[in-house]
Amino acid sequence: MSTCTALPGLTTGQAPFIEEARSRGELYLTQPYDLYSEANHAAWRGLYARIQPRWEQYATPEFLDGVTALHLPPGRIPRLTEINALLAPLSGFEAKAVSGYVPGFLFFDCLRRREFPTTITIRPAERMDYLPEPDIFHDVAGHVPMHTGPQFADVLVRFGECAATAVQLTADLPDPTERRRRLVSIMRAMSRFFWFTVEFGLMRTPAGLRAFGSGLLSSHGELEHALLSPDVQRYPMQLEWVINQGAEIDSYQPILFVVDSFDHLYDLVGTFEAWMRAGKLYHVGPGLPEIAPRDLDSFLEAAERLL
Ligand SMILES: [Fe+2]
Repeated sequence: MSTCTALPGLTTGQAPFIEEARSRGELYLTQPYDLYSEANHAAWRGLYARIQPRWEQYATPEFLDGVTALHLPPGRIPRLTEINALLAPLSGFEAKAVSGYVPGFLFFDCLRRREFPTTITIRPAERMDYLPEPDIFHDVAGHVPMHTGPQFADVLVRFGECAATAVQLTADLPDPTERRRRLVSIMRAMSRFFWFTVEFGLMRTPAGLRAFGSGLLSSHGELEHALLSPDVQRYPMQLEWVINQGAEIDSYQPILFVVDSFDHLYDLVGTFEAWMRAGKLYHVGPGLPEIAPRDLDSFLEAAERLL
């Protein structure tokens, strides 16, 4: 009689390798590829097979080109070294393995340096449809193909620069309470702008509306819902609306915004930064997302390094 010894694997929430790295305070890692279990590869395979036909229908051409350019493997979890060897020559971006959540400023500062913090665990088979935290399918199948396009890569770098601008603008405010209040408001605005574009953005194309947001491109259910459901409000991108619009965290987005092109989006990040410099982002509307203390602290610590 054979005994089945399951490897611990790199399953979200059940990965001793990740827990040990976190307990040592190690944020950046090398992907321990041999630790993936067969169940982990099967989860990737299942997710990929289910979403691939929907990408063909609903994703922007730039995303589909990215999937091709990276030779994204349908049958197994990708090695980040293989992905990066193909990605770096296209846009200078690199997928950088992390042990978990990267606090706000550090995340944006990675983007500024063309590094994308990348989760290496994968969701368990019983939670294929929804996982609140990112996993490697969201990060590598949903985000990284977008990073092959130089225009979109430049958008991400500009988001990173906006985080640095936020720190510069608030670093020397003498009143610490007011400094925190202003930072929280800017962070909420930036997080909503990122959410409704990089995570959930739609684009007008000659073939009709298409998705480029990675939250959509890594969810086979929401991808179709976002483009077809009559329940979703889809509006042309208006920056003043987006920065004041609360996000839905635990259900499909009822409202989505449409950009004309990645040049359009790039220009909008410039407008966002100009509004920040003009002091227009200190009182954005209340609501989600909440700004977590560790995210605020990461901006405050960056400000301290500046002084
Ligand atoms: Fe994401």
